[in-house]
Amino acid sequence: MKRILAAIAILVSCRAFALDVNSLKVNHMTSPAGITDPEPTFSWITESDSHNAGQIACRIQVFDGRKKVWNSGRIAGSNSVAVPYAGKQLKSGTVYEWRVRVWDNEGTKSAWSSRARFITGLFNASEWQASWIEAPLTDASPLMRKEFSVSKKVKRALAFVTAHGLYEASLNGSKIGDAYLAPGYTSYDRHLQYQTYDVTDMIEEGENAFGLELARGWYLSNMGFVDPSVYKPNFEGTNIAALAQILITYQDGSKDVVVTDGSWKYSTGGILESTIYNGETFDAAKVQQGWNTPGFDDSQWQNVQEVEYGYDNLAPQDCEQVVTEQYVSPKELIETPAGELVIDFGQNLVGTEVLSFTGKPGQTIKISHAEYLDENGNFYTVNLRSAKALSTYICDGTPQEFSAKFTFYGFRYIKVEGMERDEINLDDFKAAVRFSNLEPAGSFRCSDERVNRLQSNIQWSQRGNFVDIPSDCPQRDERLGWTGDAEVFARTATFNRQTYAFYSKWLKDLAAEQFPGGEVTDIVPFVKNLVGAGHVGWADAATIIPWTLYMAYGDTKVLETQYSSMKKWVDCVIAQAGESCLWNTGWHYGDWLSYVEAGEKDGFQIATPNPISQQCHFANSADIMARTAEVLGNSADAEYYAGICTKAKEAFCREYLNEDGSLTANTQTAYILALVYDMLPENVRAAAAARLAENVEYYGHLTTGFLGTPHINRVLTENGYNHLAYRLLFNDTCPSWLYPVTMDATTIWERWNSMLPDHTIPDNGMNSFNHYSYGAIGDWLYRYVAGISELEPGFKTIRIKPYPGEGLTFAEAEETTPYGKAASAWRIEDDGRFVLEITVPFNTRAEVCVPAAEGAVVTKDGEAMTDYEYAGGYAVFNTGSGRYVFEVK
Ligand code: BGC
Repeated sequence: MKRILAAIAILVSCRAFALDVNSLKVNHMTSPAGITDPEPTFSWITESDSHNAGQIACRIQVFDGRKKVWNSGRIAGSNSVAVPYAGKQLKSGTVYEWRVRVWDNEGTKSAWSSRARFITGLFNASEWQASWIEAPLTDASPLMRKEFSVSKKVKRALAFVTAHGLYEASLNGSKIGDAYLAPGYTSYDRHLQYQTYDVTDMIEEGENAFGLELARGWYLSNMGFVDPSVYKPNFEGTNIAALAQILITYQDGSKDVVVTDGSWKYSTGGILESTIYNGETFDAAKVQQGWNTPGFDDSQWQNVQEVEYGYDNLAPQDCEQVVTEQYVSPKELIETPAGELVIDFGQNLVGTEVLSFTGKPGQTIKISHAEYLDENGNFYTVNLRSAKALSTYICDGTPQEFSAKFTFYGFRYIKVEGMERDEINLDDFKAAVRFSNLEPAGSFRCSDERVNRLQSNIQWSQRGNFVDIPSDCPQRDERLGWTGDAEVFARTATFNRQTYAFYSKWLKDLAAEQFPGGEVTDIVPFVKNLVGAGHVGWADAATIIPWTLYMAYGDTKVLETQYSSMKKWVDCVIAQAGESCLWNTGWHYGDWLSYVEAGEKDGFQIATPNPISQQCHFANSADIMARTAEVLGNSADAEYYAGICTKAKEAFCREYLNEDGSLTANTQTAYILALVYDMLPENVRAAAAARLAENVEYYGHLTTGFLGTPHINRVLTENGYNHLAYRLLFNDTCPSWLYPVTMDATTIWERWNSMLPDHTIPDNGMNSFNHYSYGAIGDWLYRYVAGISELEPGFKTIRIKPYPGEGLTFAEAEETTPYGKAASAWRIEDDGRFVLEITVPFNTRAEVCVPAAEGAVVTKDGEAMTDYEYAGGYAVFNTGSGRYVFEVK
């Protein structure tokens, strides 16, 4: 009997082990700090060895130390994404731990997950006891310091820090946290982020020193590409300022607070100059050794000024911070024909160089940054425009590790001046890659290495342009949150990385910057007088990105938060369109950077008239608005916007559709937008698709710009022209996605012809080699080539439907959905068999579409299947979770 019981116990424990709950997230982030949401949400992933497994109940516990503040009890249901907190009211500045367990549909109860934690920020502005302190603005970066003593055992210490400018905080000589460029880039007058750090282990019993090193950063650099006297940042503030407090809870229960106030002192240190575009100058001799450690003599330092900036715009950091993700080693030292000493890192990247070097006192090293060498092999910086992007390091004779702290550069090459050739040892150099620390979500690979390079280039451009905001480019005098670029790339970005928190933070600023009439600004954060607002495709970021996030993550919160912003934009267009529901006024960027060189002939055109793009985006945004209203249970709005959408489509057809099914503009983008946004009656869709196909055949390549490119292959594939989509994918002359790959590109270029085949680089005033917009093809690689897409929000139901095409023998993608890893990998075996291996996550179902001829024998895990639906060239199966192998003979 005992033996039987033991065997059962082992079986039970094995079974329980097979149900593993992990990847705990609060508000879609792993261990976030600074939560001030009264009902943060909890998500987790369960892994199970069983097939067709799902959650039928869960139980969550949240702890404040040993106290349980929420014991959810058994919550019935399959929800494991964004389950709202419903325990005792959360307190400010508290470290919470939580865990979860689940029951599956076979009646198995998982073990408790490991504990994860989250830290709350300050729920009320009145909890700021610190005062803003300021130092006069000079070029040099100020240091601010204050000592304090601790005489009891510390149980917990949390630091809350922000600045006008950028800061790096330290305690007793060590940097607090591992982030760069804090407090980040936001619409500062509305949202100035502060960061929350657990500094318990950094506080010493006895004397402590709290230090802040500050720089201009985005707040006080000139952001924009025109004369700074013309435009204005949208916030007031002339000096560098800081606000910080450390809340200490002692083991005896008593509390203390260390705050910034008039008793702090300031001086300057090693950084003589630092701005976003121009770079950083550092003089090792000017470093005040030990300035941020206790006992330092600051009698020569000045007193800071206390200033009344208030606390109303303070907002907790609620997305991932910028960190150093990896280091890249140099590939080669090049002596260019012009005699320059240039180091090639082999990868266009964003961050800073790091140089370990002991120079002679006063030796001045200048490091410039470039993305490419010109046609003669010389260092090329024309495309940085006015941005100097220069690091200057002045040596003091001691070993140093030089790197820029408060700025970033976009570069593959650095030019080194001020070092002799024999002083340059490649081992002393590396490049630190810095960007917002978003968890990787997806990967894509196929049998063509050029396409794999394209995928890698897309991911590198995402890294480079996810430095706290979604930016257009990271190198020239721009680096701004262009809404159009963000809109076209959001779907691809979301396949590549976990973007929910990153975009949600930026969308709050998008809403904050919206003009009173609802126009969405071209860039977010906005810079007054630099650019405008309300432009087709750019402004539609307001609707498209929240909807993209909802579909990818299944969390309605972003829709709730953005609802009024979305509505304001759609209402703004409705007002412009008037009774006729035809939006055809105003200046627009349109199908920006479409390919023009081929000219317009034989009745085929390239430049899409803006009104056509406008009308399609209008209908799409109204449609998103209607769906959003429906999701949120607002049926009146749902009906209203659905009506607007219908009218907008009718107006489109009245105005731009000819009787024979052609459009008034015979351009690729016109047909693409009409089809992707479902503008046409069913009976002319095929004709429209045929015209697009004809156009593509005529030119032999794409001619699209920012608005058409993201959707061209999807539209071709979905409308029976998959072979043309593949042809476009494999084109490798300009314009195409692979042309840059043949030109040794390691990121996505801004223009189809950013570099000409003879390696000359056109100086057309606007030419970046790290611009993710055309990388929007990534969405098609995941969704159509490998075939993973969400049928229901958050991938609760998944469609796995690969579209193989000529030129590939295999393709595979993995995607970490909110429920866990989904995968699709297909290959064509030598004997012609088509094999599809898939993974469907626990707690989800999939519609699996296996490409097959009608009547073909399809096997699932080796077993011949006869009972399946057949539709449009696919054998369609429905399945629950698990790994399966399908084969078509
Ligand atoms: C940016 C773009 C942006 C565009 C507006 C450029 O300067 O780099 O990517 O969308 O302006 O048309």
